[in-house]
Amino acid sequence: MPYTVLARAWRPTTFSELVGQEHVRSALTNALEMGRLHHALLFTGTRGVGKTSIARIVAKCLNCDVGVTSAPCSNCSPCRSIDAGAFMDLVEVDGASRTKVESVRDWIDDVQFPPTQGRYKIYLIDEVHMLSTHAFNALLKTLEEPPPNIIFLLATTDPQKLPATVISRCLRFDLVQLPVAKMVDRMRSVLRGEGIAFELAGLMAVAHTADGSMRDALSLLDQLISFGDGQVSEANARAMLGMIPRDRIVHLAELLSMHNVPALLGDARSLADLAPNYDHILHELAGLFVNIAIRQVTDEVDDDVRDALEVLDRLSQTYTAQDLHLYYQIAIIGRRDLSLALDAQAGFELTLLRMLAFRPGS
Ligand SMILES: Nc1ncnc2c1ncn2[C@@H]1O[C@H](COP(=O)(O)OP(=O)(O)O)[C@@H](O)[C@H]1O
Ligand SMILES: [Mg+2]
Ligand SMILES: [Zn+2]
Repeated sequence: MPYTVLARAWRPTTFSELVGQEHVRSALTNALEMGRLHHALLFTGTRGVGKTSIARIVAKCLNCDVGVTSAPCSNCSPCRSIDAGAFMDLVEVDGASRTKVESVRDWIDDVQFPPTQGRYKIYLIDEVHMLSTHAFNALLKTLEEPPPNIIFLLATTDPQKLPATVISRCLRFDLVQLPVAKMVDRMRSVLRGEGIAFELAGLMAVAHTADGSMRDALSLLDQLISFGDGQVSEANARAMLGMIPRDRIVHLAELLSMHNVPALLGDARSLADLAPNYDHILHELAGLFVNIAIRQVTDEVDDDVRDALEVLDRLSQTYTAQDLHLYYQIAIIGRRDLSLALDAQAGFELTLLRMLAFRPGS
């Protein structure tokens, strides 16, 4: 059997499987339960945060044999054909594909006909901002006078490019990027489902790199599984992602806490052999400062720092809160300015030196 990539194999097919986007889930669930769903919904958000998944879930909610529901059964014929991408009354249109005028006319002309198989006919238009002017005008007309039992689900990564006339006729849901902890949780259950062992810190590294996109996280996880020959370990993840070993970051933080300029500079220089991503190092250093600062003021421990607790405890003894806040600030400004630096290595080294140079009393 051909291998299905994780991102596709693990597409959420009910609201209960959806990760995050609670504000969207609860608004839609309420509307569905009260039987008051708007005839045009617009989903915005960056890639891989759930726009298409949510739209397909809504299609199931509206057409499930148990009746309009917020918890479709996933077993009846409409549910199953929607999950399989084969439901006649769910028309998926890709605004980004250079649809020929005739084919646009095809689906627009088709809007006036009632559903053939289900309760509702649903048009899911992805990257709707890319539609041609012709298609927009046709769409606008149908949005103004929506035929009964027709629902429009529009999705876009770029709502600014949508005409205000379209936006104003839709109920709009802005999806957010997913927090690291939620992506880690999801990857954890995916790997358990697949029967693959893992190290939590490896998933953390992947989640940080995925930048809020669940799809990117799962694609990276696929890569990691083949990269490490099935070993989802922290070391493999960091090697694959071009991150320096975690203890090198900790070591930098230690040298910074000792205010040892020559040792710090020497260590920073030796990192060059690893051809590291300096932006990433500053990002991780800033993250470490945040975790130390939080550790200093509370005993509550987040799951994602649990295995680094010993390090955090040790560093929180050696740092003053003042230094931490200053270093954090300098690290993030250093990241911002990295692209302006003579070269990334110089920008990175100077950022570290600046932390010590600006210390009160230095
Ligand atoms: N909120 C989410 N919860 C769970 N999985 C998600 C979520 N968002 C994205 N994914 C994963 O990423 C894949 C692509 O998601 P999709 O809904 O097509 O994203 P979008 O349309 O926003 O680009 C899904 O198949 C799923 O595996
Ligand atoms: Mg999509
Ligand atoms: Zn059903």
